[in-house]
Formats: sequence, structure tokens, C-alpha cells
Amino acid sequence: MSTLRTNILGIDFENPFLLASAPPTAQIESIDTAFEMGWSGAVLKTITPDDLEMSEASPRYTTLTDKKRIIGFQNIELLSHHTIKYWCDGIKYLKHKHPSKVIIASIMSPVDKNAWQTLVRTLNDTPADAFELNFSCPHGMPEKGIGMSIGTDGQISVQITSWVKEVARKPVFVKLSPNVTDIAQIGRLVEKAGADGLAAINTVQGFMGIDLDTLQPLLNINGKTTFGGCSGAMVRPIGLRCVAQLRQASQLPILGQGGISTWEDAAQYIAAGSDAVQVCTEVMLNGYKIIGPMLKGLQNYLDNKGFSGISALKNKAVELITSHEHLQKMPRIYPEINHEKCVRCEKCITICRESEHQALRLEDGFLSVDKERCVGCGLCRFVCPLGAIFIK
Ligand SMILES: Cc1cc2nc3c(=O)[nH]c(=O)nc-3n(C[C@H](O)[C@H](O)[C@H](O)COP(=O)(O)O)c2cc1C
Repeated sequence: MSTLRTNILGIDFENPFLLASAPPTAQIESIDTAFEMGWSGAVLKTITPDDLEMSEASPRYTTLTDKKRIIGFQNIELLSHHTIKYWCDGIKYLKHKHPSKVIIASIMSPVDKNAWQTLVRTLNDTPADAFELNFSCPHGMPEKGIGMSIGTDGQISVQITSWVKEVARKPVFVKLSPNVTDIAQIGRLVEKAGADGLAAINTVQGFMGIDLDTLQPLLNINGKTTFGGCSGAMVRPIGLRCVAQLRQASQLPILGQGGISTWEDAAQYIAAGSDAVQVCTEVMLNGYKIIGPMLKGLQNYLDNKGFSGISALKNKAVELITSHEHLQKMPRIYPEINHEKCVRCEKCITICRESEHQALRLEDGFLSVDKERCVGCGLCRFVCPLGAIFIK
């Protein structure tokens, strides 16, 4: 049987599933419950100096739905409102009760050496296993010059990472923002500045929409709104891309996250370069209990694949990601048709005609592909409602 256990920077993880820094890790009692249910660790809701002013707007969330299923949030929540003492006492309590669980202290401070180092020194004296530097919250904090303002600026990211590394007595992960042109560049810079690991992604800055009856924003705070952080299934392709780019640029451990809802999502993040994964939105939608099927599913998958553990799956997809220039151009892959399944609804014909290529038509009542015109784009198989078009 394969093992879900893994070791990152000398820290033992019972399994690769951690709670991300967010509402599910904002209270000690609830983290306690999550540990009982099987999560291997928690990144605490971001801790800040006690004198950092933060006042929350209400409401804080809106959602994107697909057939009533929520596929993502836009949130404008800020950071932890608990004192540093609350967290120091809480970390001690949790570690005493759950010595095998991993606790990562997420932190953020104004861009001031003393403020960052004081926070780190205080938390050094707790049994937390590591730090995660939140350089990536996209709302509220950038207005104060912190959060994503740090993670979108290479120089400031380097500066703060070095300040923290000067005093940290635990491994330091840097949590990066997807809201940059090149996340790998920031990853490389913080690695050079001494980061021990990377975490990605924080939320993707977005604007969920407008109610067309009232012309008010969907995230409506007394008639106004602000850009917020998007998370959940809808951001998964962005998170996977960022993790793969970081892995191509760096060998540091990566805590991958962004839209992980199932064990399959987690397995893909690991194959794309993550050492472990973090989950937030799916827990906020379905509770800590989702860990049960995630553990079982990943375990079965590793067993069935004959992988000894997480490390055997890690990076498996990374070398397959190349530049467009290096992709095969010829021969083209033409669609094939299962004539027994095809009901000649002509949806594919319309799409092919109106998306440029005009390669599909009915000939003697049967769907046929004109290989002179077909460019092998493969779109038709996705619009067929019956799965009658496929490629080999
Ligand atoms: C309501 C909410 C609050 C969050 N608060 C924090 C935070 O305090 N610190 C942090 O580093 N990330 C925070 N995040 C980002 C999550 O940790 C995570 O990186 C992001 O949501 C992507 O993962 P997901 O798609 O599983 O939610 C928050 C996310 C949400 C939805």
C-alpha cells in the first residue's frame, strides 16, 4: 500500500492536505475539530501586528454558480482579527493536543523591518512548524501598501523575505500572488532572498458582476463595491498554471492551492509540482468532512497506479509542459464520428461553420469531415451533446 505521508523541509505531514489560511483556520476550536477529522495541518488565518487597523465590510461574499452549483467566490475579507497572544496561546494548545499535526503561521505586516521581525520573533517562541508570508491578499491590504502590493513588487518581496529570514527560526514559505505577469520571476527572486518554500496561489483579483435589474454590483455593500479575491473551482486552471510555472523555475517545496475540491484536483496539483496542497473554498462550502473522501480517493489512486507515495506522483506532468513552438504541428488530428450515436442535430456543423473552418457537413444524411478544410482544432467534440465525435 502506498503512503500519503510526506516530509517537507524536515516537517512530517500525515497526508498532503492542509487547510489554507482563511475562515476555516480563523478560530482555534475549529482547527481543533479539523485536526480530529483528518487534516494534516493548518495555515492559520493571517496574523498581523495588534495595532494594524482593519475594519471589515458587509457583506463579504458573492458567488459564481453553474446550474446552482457554486463554482467560485469573490470575497473581500481581510485578515485575522485575533491578537498575537490569542494565536501564541492557541498554537501551544493545538500542538500539545495534536503533536503530529502541522501548524503554519501566516503573517503580514506593514513594510517595516522592525514590524516584520517583531512578529517573527514572537512567533518563533511558539511550537508552530513554519511561517507563511502573505504577500498576496488582493483587497483592502494593498491600499495600505501591503498584501498583494508586496507580492507584485519583486524588490519589496526580496526585502521582506530577507528581513524575515534574518530572524526566523523556522522554515519560511512565501505565498505568492497570481495577479502578476510572471509569477515564476517573483518565485525566483524570493528564493534568492532565502525563502525555503513557496505557496501559490492566493485569490485572483476579480469583479464578479452587475445585477442588470438594479445596475448595482453583485457584491453590493450599500450600493458600492470593490475588486475582490476570486477562489474555488473557477480559478483552478490559474492555480495549476502558476504552480507548474513555479516548479519549472524552482526546486523549492511548493504548497499548491486554488480551486481544489476533490482528490483528483489535489492529485493534479501534485503532478504539476506541488509537495502538498491547501484547501479553503471547498471547505467553506462543504465543511471539514470533505477530507474523508479526499484521503480515500488519493490513497486508492496511488495504490492503483503502483506509486509508492506522493513523491512518485510529484512533478509527473511538469516535463510535458513546453512552449508552443515545441508542440507537434503535423500530422493534424482529425475528428472521427460514431454514426450510431450521431442524431444529426447539426450543432457541430453550425459551430464549425461559424468558428471559421466550415469542415463539417451532412452527406447522404451522415455527418462527414472535409479534411481539406478541417484544421484539427477539436472543438466539435466538445459541443456534441451525445459524445458522437471523438479523436484517437
Ligand atoms: C474568505 C477568504 C479569506 C481568505 N483569507 C486569507 C488570509 O487571511 N490569508 C491568506 O494567505 N489567504 C487567504 N485567503 C486565500 C486562501 O488561503 C486561498 O489561497 C485561496 O482562497 C485559493 O484557494 P481555494 O480556491 O481553495 O479557496 C482567503 C480566501 C477566502 C475565500
